[in-house]
Amino acid sequence: MHDPGQPARHSRTVLSLDPEVVGSLKDGINFKKSTDDGMWYIIYKDQQGELKACKNQCKHQGGLFIKDIEDLDGRTVRCTKHYWKLNVSTMCYVNPPESFTQDEFEVVMTDEGGLKLVEVIVHDPWLAEPRDLQKLQEGEMTVPWFCQPGVMDNHLDKLQTTFICHHNFCVEQ
Ligand code: FES
Repeated sequence: MHDPGQPARHSRTVLSLDPEVVGSLKDGINFKKSTDDGMWYIIYKDQQGELKACKNQCKHQGGLFIKDIEDLDGRTVRCTKHYWKLNVSTMCYVNPPESFTQDEFEVVMTDEGGLKLVEVIVHDPWLAEPRDLQKLQEGEMTVPWFCQPGVMDNHLDKLQTTFICHHNFCVEQ
């Protein structure tokens, strides 16, 4: 739980690369492993030399990404567990479509030409100020929890609720 005496956000460096390694980054997708903790990271370099970076860890159930051989633009990686795809030039998952975005690291260049990937950690306000569970009152809606990715329409009086996999849902009036 977040200690109210501590700042609501802080940052930590998850990967440091020296100038030689930075110079060897190729255009497109690069996989890099931290020698400190053994974690893998993805660094995407566009044609202007701009860098984006994220963890090599799928948001679905933590699978590892590999290059997607069907991706001709060199921007998409594919999860080895259930084959979700992530466009690392936008950090949006493209399969399932319009679902998650991947959390990005800040890419900080050092004066010497190296770089650091910095994770900004924001404390969850729900954990910082927990509230007691409230009992549902008569007439309040309950939403079942689905364990399988998929789409389901649930028609209620004036609302149409579309569930897209088990983490997101959209409500249309
Ligand atoms: S863990 Fe990546 S698609 Fe399921």
